[in-house]
Amino acid sequence: MSLLRLFSRPALSVSSRATMSAPRSALQVVRHQSTESSYTNILVSNPRPGVGLITLNRPKALNALSSELFVELNKALKDYEDDKEIGAIVLTGSDKAFAAGADIKEMAPLTFSEAYVNNFIAPWSYITTLRKPVIAAVSGHALGGGCELAMMCDILYCTKTANFGQPEIKLGTIPGAGGSQRLTAALGKSKAMELILTGNNLSGEEAEKHGLAAKAFEGGNKEVLEGALDTAAKIASYSRVAVIAAKEVVNKSQDLGVREGVEYERRIFHSLFGSQDQKIGMKAFAEKKKPTWSHL
Ligand code: CAA
Repeated sequence: MSLLRLFSRPALSVSSRATMSAPRSALQVVRHQSTESSYTNILVSNPRPGVGLITLNRPKALNALSSELFVELNKALKDYEDDKEIGAIVLTGSDKAFAAGADIKEMAPLTFSEAYVNNFIAPWSYITTLRKPVIAAVSGHALGGGCELAMMCDILYCTKTANFGQPEIKLGTIPGAGGSQRLTAALGKSKAMELILTGNNLSGEEAEKHGLAAKAFEGGNKEVLEGALDTAAKIASYSRVAVIAAKEVVNKSQDLGVREGVEYERRIFHSLFGSQDQKIGMKAFAEKKKPTWSHL
C-alpha cells in the first residue's frame, strides 16, 4: 500500500463510533472507563473525566512509528480535539518503549521522489496543530521519531530511566520530524549538537535536569502515566477557553520576540474579559465558591 493511501485511510475507535450513533445516556456509560478500540496500532480510552488517553501499541516493534500508526494516531487525536467532553490528551507507550523511532523497515526502500512528493513525515506534525493540551508520558526508549513525537507534545513527563536520543546518524541520515530544532530549543545548541552528531542517549533523569522533560518519575510506565493523567485531569477541570488561550500564548513565545510576545499575550488576556468563564471564575473567587465552568 502506498504511503499516500495510508495517510487517507480512516479508522474508527469505539468511542468515536459511539459519539456518532449512541444516545447521550449510552455515551456516558462508555466514557470514564477504558474502552476497547478497533485500531490496530494504538489503544484509546477515557480513564479520567475530561481526559483522552492514547497508548501506542506495536509491542513487537517497540512502537516503531509506521505510516499506518500515524493514520490511526491522527484520527484519534482529531476525535479528541473535536470532542467537547475532552479537555486534555495523554499520549503514552509501554514500559519498554514510548517509541523506538520511525519504522526503519518501512523507510529503508523509500526513494527521494517518493519521500519528497508524498511529503513523508509531514502528517506527523498534526499533533502540534491541536488546541487542546497533549501530555507525553514516556517510559523506555524514545528514540529518533519517538523522541521527536514526545517533544511535539505540550508537556513531557518521563521515567528517570527513559532513554531519549536522536540516533539517525547511525543509520546514515538525520532527524526528520523536528528533532534538530526542538532538541536544540530545549537543550541549547551545544548539547543538542553533541547528541545528534554522536547518536548518544540522554536518560530521563538528565532530560529533566536539562529542561527537556517537565518531570522525571521513579518507576515505570504505570507511575509516569499516573502523573500525566493527574495533570491532564487537573487541566481538564479548568475552563476550556482559558486553557486554549494559555496554550496559545505559551506557544507564541517560540515564534515571537519577547516584546511582541508580551503584547500578543496582553491582547489575548484582554479578549478573555469577553468570556463567560472569566466572569464565573472571578465571581466564584470573590464569593469563596468553586467555579462551575461554562467553557464559553
Ligand atoms: N523500526 C522498525 N523496527 C524496529 C525499530 C524501528 N525504529 N526499533 C526496533 N524495531 C524492532 C526490531 O527490528 C525488532 O524486531 P524483530 O524482533 O522482528 O527483529 C524489535 O523491534 C525489537 O527490537 P530489538 O531486538 O532491537 O530490541 P533491543 O531491546 O535489543 O534494542 C533498541 C532496542 C535499542 C531501541 C533497538 O531496537 C534500536 O536501536 N532501534 C532503532 C532505534 C532507531 O534507530 N531509531 C531511529 C529511527 S530513524 C527516525 O526515527 C527518523 C526520524 O527522524 C523520523
